Amino acid sequence: MKIAVIGTGYVGLVTGTCLAETGNDVICVDINETKVKKMQNGEVPIYEPGLDLLFHRNIAQGRLTFTTNLADAVKDAQIIFMALPTPPGGDGAADLSYILGAAKDISKLITEYKVIVNKSTVPVGTADKVKAVFQEHTSIEVDVVSNPEFLREGVAVDDFMKPDRVVLGTKSERAKKLMAELYGPYVRQGNPILFMDERSSELTKYAANSFLATKITFMNEVANLCELVGADVDAVRKGIGSDERIGKRFLFPGVGYGGSCFPKDVQALVKSSDDYEYDFQILKSVMEVNERQKTILVDKVLKYYKNDIKGKHFALWGLAFKPETDDIREAPALYIINALIENGATVTVFDPEAMENVAGIIGDKVKYAKNQYEALVDADALLIATEWSVFRNPDFEKIDKVLKNKVIFDGRNLYDLQKMIDLGYYYNSIGRKL
Ligand code: UGA
Repeated sequence: MKIAVIGTGYVGLVTGTCLAETGNDVICVDINETKVKKMQNGEVPIYEPGLDLLFHRNIAQGRLTFTTNLADAVKDAQIIFMALPTPPGGDGAADLSYILGAAKDISKLITEYKVIVNKSTVPVGTADKVKAVFQEHTSIEVDVVSNPEFLREGVAVDDFMKPDRVVLGTKSERAKKLMAELYGPYVRQGNPILFMDERSSELTKYAANSFLATKITFMNEVANLCELVGADVDAVRKGIGSDERIGKRFLFPGVGYGGSCFPKDVQALVKSSDDYEYDFQILKSVMEVNERQKTILVDKVLKYYKNDIKGKHFALWGLAFKPETDDIREAPALYIINALIENGATVTVFDPEAMENVAGIIGDKVKYAKNQYEALVDADALLIATEWSVFRNPDFEKIDKVLKNKVIFDGRNLYDLQKMIDLGYYYNSIGRKL
């Protein structure tokens, strides 16, 4: 099939590349000329495991191309994906100007029936708005399909190639047929393609992310309570997670959820609910609790040093909002760094992928180490904010040599409690005994 993908951000690029992988001709459009040039020269603009291979293979086979020219892209495409940003506007509602603007531009270029697929996370009712834009500017028939993405950064290629489900919001039989054909190769194992109306599909995306954010936040609160009552959150997690109705996944407490999706989507769902005069109380609490959780590690540090960390120096392992990404949007590490600095401490950081991104924001407010051990030099204590695999089994002898004191504040519960006691550490983690 012939596909156009508008927007080569994270979602657009993964979508375009993975659609080319099953034999479709995919042309990706972006207004950023430098980025398009780079991609034309075979440079992958984001860090995403597994994407390189597919990207290069499909470019080499001529199935994946890039352009800044929208007209070239939409001319022959049967299906046009829109993967454009929907940043939170001033009032927390998603800003639809990119999507509606692109819809207008496309409407002026098309000369035959097209399926317009919206991949961006958008408030309920957006498909109707996009449809209205087309109706205003062209008499050519189009179907607008809502097709939310459920890609996780770090495993996005796998999530696209083998999705748990594909959600497609459209009432048009013609669009359903084309979309089922396109997604058929990805659901060969029998995972469902769920057809529904546009509004249900749009809400499904927000509800899924908000539910997951709530699940994590609930566990963070259970963990905080565990510390007070002397329980162990690992045991409680396993105890509840074995109930299939609860499930084992997404029950890991930590320093709060971050990233470009959960915080934005929870906020947007609260805002849409408010617009319909519905008070979505649980999500409001989720937002509040998550803000508090982001600095819980610093609270522990302050308590340990009796509220005085002036002149202390800390090592921080992990900057990305989660492992296997260089994404630092809403990353708890940023809150931790700022809180430490505000309290008069200095910080040296290390992350396998996200250092450059942090340097772009934080600059020389912190020092950047070449590796995880160098970060520990002269540090009074080590703080851990992201559960990168390289932090899971470190060489504690090496740590002992450089870290000034045997003190670790672990926001991701990486180490066995008994092991840390045996090694003689003061080891403060989340929801577990000291
Ligand atoms: C999330 C969803 O998982 C995807 O399904 C969705 O498509 C995506 O948002 C999106 O809307 O684009 P992502 O933001 O990449 O994906 O990251 P997750 O792996 O879901 O992690 C989100 C946050 O929750 C991270 O900060 C992570 O550290 C935290 N988390 C996750 C926990 O604190 N505990 C857990 O048990 C799981």
